[in-house]
Amino acid sequence: MKRPMNLTDLRRRFPRDFVWGVATSAFQIEGAARAEGKGLSIWDEFCRVPGAIADGSNGDVACDHYHRLDSDLDLIAHLGVRAYRFSISWPRIQPSGSGAINEAGLAFYERLVDGLLARNIQPYATLYHWDLPAELQRLHGGWRARETAERFADYAQLVASRLGDRIVSIATHNEPWVTAVLGHERGIFAPGVRDRGVAYQVAHHVLVSHGLALQAIRAANTKAEVGIVLNLSPVYPETDSELDATHARLEDGRLVRWYMDALFKGGYPPDIIEHLGVDAPSVRPGDAELIAQPFDFVGVNYYSPTVFSSSSNAALPASSGAAVTDMGWEVAPKSLAELLLRLDRDYELPPLFITENGAAYQDDVVGGRVDDEQRREYIESHLVAVADAIARGVDVRGYFVWSLMDNFEWAEGYRKRFGIVHVDYPTQRRTLKSSALWYQALLTTPA
Ligand code: FCB
Repeated sequence: MKRPMNLTDLRRRFPRDFVWGVATSAFQIEGAARAEGKGLSIWDEFCRVPGAIADGSNGDVACDHYHRLDSDLDLIAHLGVRAYRFSISWPRIQPSGSGAINEAGLAFYERLVDGLLARNIQPYATLYHWDLPAELQRLHGGWRARETAERFADYAQLVASRLGDRIVSIATHNEPWVTAVLGHERGIFAPGVRDRGVAYQVAHHVLVSHGLALQAIRAANTKAEVGIVLNLSPVYPETDSELDATHARLEDGRLVRWYMDALFKGGYPPDIIEHLGVDAPSVRPGDAELIAQPFDFVGVNYYSPTVFSSSSNAALPASSGAAVTDMGWEVAPKSLAELLLRLDRDYELPPLFITENGAAYQDDVVGGRVDDEQRREYIESHLVAVADAIARGVDVRGYFVWSLMDNFEWAEGYRKRFGIVHVDYPTQRRTLKSSALWYQALLTTPA
C-alpha cells in the first residue's frame, strides 16, 4: 500500500474551476421499476432471462433511490462534490417510448434537478444509459430500426424543453459501443442479441440518434452543454508478433476509431468497414454530416486498457501478472494519460470530461467502517494521470468517480461493488467508505 499523497499538492495540479463529481445511472440505482406509470425497459426484461444476471437479481429495488431521493441528495452534498452525473430513465418519461410525457416520472427528475441546485451541485444528465423502453424493442427491434433514433430525438426534445433551463450538461448516450457490441454482438447485455451485422447497424443508429437529438435539444433552446460519453481505452497487442499488432489495430478501430472518426472526422474508418464486410451498416446520404455536427464536450469513461490476443481472438481482461480489480480489470493509470494524449493528438476535440472512472473491490463493513484502501489508491493514481495529461496540454474539465454508491452492476448483479459509499441492500443503509472520506477531504482542501 502506498501512502496517500499530500492533498493540497494533488488539488493544486487541477485548475480552480475543475468540476469534481460522482456518477450513477437510473437503472442501477433507482428501483421503483413499475412506480407511477413507468414503463418497463429492456433491462427489466433481460433480468428475467434465466442465467442472464450472475446472481439472478434485477433492478426492481436496486438502491431504492427513487424513494430515498432527499437523503441521497444530502449524501451527495455531504461529499463536497460540485457536480452529479445521473441518467434519466426513458421509460419513466415515456412509458412506451413515444407520445405524451408521464408527468409523475418527469416530476421525479424535476425534484432531483431542483434538489441538486438547492444544494449548489450542478446537474449533469445522460439521456440514454441503456434502459430502452421495452415497447420499442417489441415493436421495431429497438436500435436495429431507424425509427428508434427518431423516437429518441423526440424524447430528447421533451427532456430538454422541460429540464433544459436547469441542467448544466446533457449527454445523449452513455457508451454506444456497449449498446452495440455487448447488447447485440456478444449478447451479454440487454437485449441479448448475438449478430454482428445487427450490432453495427445498431452502432450506426445510435450515432444517428445522437445527431438527431443534438438538433432537437438545440431547438429546445437550452443553455446546457450537449455531448456524448464514450468508453475508450488504449488497445495493446498481447505479444510483439505482427499478427497481434494487426488484431490490436482492428480492435482499436472497433472500440475507439469507429466512434471518434464518425464524430470528429465525418466517417467510419475504411479499414473497419472493409473488415466488417457484409456486416457493415447501411448508411444513408447525409448521415455522416448528421453524426459529425459540432457539439460541446466528450465524456470519456475509462477503467482499464484492452489487451488483444490474436491466439484467442479476444480482448483479454488484463496483461499477465498485472494488478486487477474485482472485475478482473487491469489497474493501469498510465494508460489513461496515454489515451487522453492520443485523443488530443488525433482529433480536433471539444473539452473533455472523465465521466466515469473507478474500481470494484470486495468491501466489508467492520465496526461501522469500510476500509477500501485499494479503491482510494485506484482513484488517486488515476487523478494523477489526468493531472499529467492536463499538464501536457489536454483540456480536461472534470472528473466523476464511478460510482457514488454500490449498485446493480448489469450482468454481474449486486456482487460487484463500485461505490465510494457502501450500500447494505437488506436495510438500504449507506456507509461512507474510507475512499469517500478521502475524496471529501480532497474536495474540501483549499487549492
Ligand atoms: C460502465 C458503465 C457503468 C458501470 C461501469 C462499471 O461501462 O457505464 O454503468 O457499470 O461500467
